[in-house]
Amino acid sequence: MTPATTAHEITAAKRLDNVRYAIRDLACVADEVIQLGHKVLPLNVGDPLNFDFQTPAHIIEAVYKAMRDGKNGYAPSPGIPEAIEAIRGEAARKGITTVRDVFVTSGVSETVDLCISALVNPGEDILTPSPDYPLYSAVLCKLGIALNAYDLNEDDAWQPELADVERKLTPRTRGIVLINPNNPTGSLCSRQMLEQVAEIARRNNLVVFSDEIYDKLILDGTPHIAFASVAPDVPCITFGGMSKNYLVPGWRIGWGIVSGDAAAVKPYTEGIHRLLRARLCANHPEQYAIKPALEGPQDHLVEVQRKLRSRRDLTQKWCEATPRVSCVAPRGAFYAFPRIDIPESDEVFVKQLIRQKYVMVVHGSGFGQKAGTQHFRIVFLPDEKTLSEAYASIGELIQERYGKS
Ligand SMILES: Cc1ncc(COP(=O)(O)O)c(C=O)c1O
Repeated sequence: MTPATTAHEITAAKRLDNVRYAIRDLACVADEVIQLGHKVLPLNVGDPLNFDFQTPAHIIEAVYKAMRDGKNGYAPSPGIPEAIEAIRGEAARKGITTVRDVFVTSGVSETVDLCISALVNPGEDILTPSPDYPLYSAVLCKLGIALNAYDLNEDDAWQPELADVERKLTPRTRGIVLINPNNPTGSLCSRQMLEQVAEIARRNNLVVFSDEIYDKLILDGTPHIAFASVAPDVPCITFGGMSKNYLVPGWRIGWGIVSGDAAAVKPYTEGIHRLLRARLCANHPEQYAIKPALEGPQDHLVEVQRKLRSRRDLTQKWCEATPRVSCVAPRGAFYAFPRIDIPESDEVFVKQLIRQKYVMVVHGSGFGQKAGTQHFRIVFLPDEKTLSEAYASIGELIQERYGKS
């Protein structure tokens, strides 16, 4: 048989054209450098397990036990009952009084995908923050939904810019995403801001997606305020999970807590459950860690917060001391989003940083940013010595490439 001379190219779906995940897309540049024999410092991925953080032993034990006890088959689609009960308990502790449903997913990533897929029709949209955690825009692209981003205001500690939210609302807007504590800026929403967003949601029949995956990683001693506790009547899904607070991103465990007026959220919740059943279940043995994590000792958090506070302070000091760099001090999570005043794009800058100094951060344009501004996102998880060396290298590149001002 004669082999075909030209293979027929299999093209990817058109709607994926705009799917980008800058955090991991930079890996190709890093690979070039690694192949030349250099070690690259990954300040790009928010994985505490890359650094000096350890998963609490008692939750690892709970998963071993589940596996040994034969919990290796499919789980119930919404999650195992003891995990759902524990998440309800956590919701109560967060002051969420109108819980209508709870379900467990394979990471918050799956919660986001399911909840958005279950809500929007073609031609409708969801307001997402800019800068944004890029999963949201990826899911919307995948569904063929046009992006509708509202600005976070750097001059107001990265709070949502409400005037822009109002401007971007259309009659086809179905929801709004809040990320609080925020990735990539490390900001926290004030109670007053949550109340104002609630008011907009009420007036426009919006579902609020409140991504609170970092809610136990608050660095300035203020309590985290759950959106749903401030607005018990507003249809809301609070996203939470184990990846960050309990240092197990590889386990892929997240959840959604539906709250708000019972009659209003009922049909939407049923839609979510249709999708939950269609994908069978979330990871099974790992679900047995949810109750011991949420209800057991929280000692690890004291240590995690202590390390993060010290590394945040070091990061902030460096930003304040470095020409061309300025930064709104992060208050939660483990990200800083410094602004950088340079005469070329932030993407060129971060690629040069990998190639010349072997340090990997993510360009602000990978998250979305106001026209005319440039940023980069730092993951400040490494220890102080490693961070200091990385910051010295970043400072050198800025000095060599652009001069002092
Ligand atoms: C704001 C935000 N939401 C969701 C996720 C995804 O989390 P998970 O590991 O639970 O899928 C991340 C991960 O970095 C995140 O930063």
